[in-house]
Amino acid sequence: MLKNKKFLKKYVNSELESKKNSSTTLTLSEPVFNHKEIISSIDSIINLNLSQGKKVKTFEKNYSRYIGTKYGIAVNSGSSANLIAIAALIETFNIKKGDEVIIPAATFATVAMPIIQLGLVPVYVDVNKDNLNIDPKKIEKSISKKTKILMIVHTLGLACDMKAINKIVKKHKLILFEDCCEAHGSMFNNKKVGSFGHISAFSFFVAHNMTTGEGGMILTNNSKLDLICRSIREFGRINFNSKNIKSRWFTDDRFKNYDKRYIFQRLGYNMRMTEINASFGIEQLKKLDKFNAIRIKNANYLNDNFKKFNLNNYFNLYVNFPKLEHTYYGFPILIKESCKFSRYQLISFLEENNVQTRPLFAGNLADQPGLRKMPKKIRSKLSNTLILKENLFFIGVHPMISKRTFDRFINLMVNFTNNYK
Ligand SMILES: Cc1ncc(COP(=O)(O)O)c(C=O)c1O
Repeated sequence: MLKNKKFLKKYVNSELESKKNSSTTLTLSEPVFNHKEIISSIDSIINLNLSQGKKVKTFEKNYSRYIGTKYGIAVNSGSSANLIAIAALIETFNIKKGDEVIIPAATFATVAMPIIQLGLVPVYVDVNKDNLNIDPKKIEKSISKKTKILMIVHTLGLACDMKAINKIVKKHKLILFEDCCEAHGSMFNNKKVGSFGHISAFSFFVAHNMTTGEGGMILTNNSKLDLICRSIREFGRINFNSKNIKSRWFTDDRFKNYDKRYIFQRLGYNMRMTEINASFGIEQLKKLDKFNAIRIKNANYLNDNFKKFNLNNYFNLYVNFPKLEHTYYGFPILIKESCKFSRYQLISFLEENNVQTRPLFAGNLADQPGLRKMPKKIRSKLSNTLILKENLFFIGVHPMISKRTFDRFINLMVNFTNNYK
């Protein structure tokens, strides 16, 4: 353990303080951490614990317990979590090339990409305008004999309607994969998202509600999926971590008494998490509930001010959900179709005035340049996806934003809309 912790705490916190953003730029995201993450990381470095080790194990245990699953497999990104999870589902459930995976059309690129990379076909389904999530009513129309997996995304931290989703999963005997990369700690009926499906994936990229810099996690209750994910994470090698030398030797008709650490059982990758990332993860998880509470408070503050200044005449917001159903990875704002201004006009104005904005990720994934010529199925109209693609944007509500910055944003919105009364 580090000896000079007091000195480090003082040094680190004064450095972080001096870097604090004193401007009123409304940033989309800023990681929130203090001496605890740094001291833990330095401790790992000084003790030469760099690659996957004890802290990764602890983080896996703590995170899976927090969400409510038996197993957690830490990886180097949310995209890797999705890729490994799909590969593990293919092997476990004997899914064949050309089988289909239902996904929302309006989401992030690496929801669709691993599906295609592994020889399956994404079926794009429209999203609901009221919660930005895949529309359960439209899922059933898109199911074919080849449909094996339903991959849902809890968009921007807002939980999908799990009652409706579970009903479809049961009725059609589908495998449920929850992409929770934007929804750490979100709940549906008091149960955390990521604990409903056969498998789930999280991202700890810097922009997310808690961060490890880069990082991800796969969760499952299925012991077979757990073992396969662990193997794929590490070159596809056999799962072996016993210290008992006698059990170390592998034997089959081609390898006799061979060191099991060099037996590769399936195709894999190297997507391990480092101890430094896990140092962050362990500390960040302790703060996640507090971070989420601040995001919810900030979202409510914006909602009150939209009402107060009649901005609701122009915009629809995504607020007033039951406790923790929405943890506000971002604060989405939908421009009403009756408005006389375009999203482009509004976000150009905001960006010029130091308000960072984002569209709803890929807009319509099926139309993205890198995906439009790839295998896909679309069995119903993507009408809401197209409306959101043109009219929605989101801003940050993370814990580092001050009331002063939100007030300045509201002021800008009032000034802008006054020109279009
Ligand atoms: C829904 C969704 N899935 C996957 C990812 C990929 O996560 P990462 O950036 O950690 O690779 C993201 C990224 O934010 C995401 O929003």
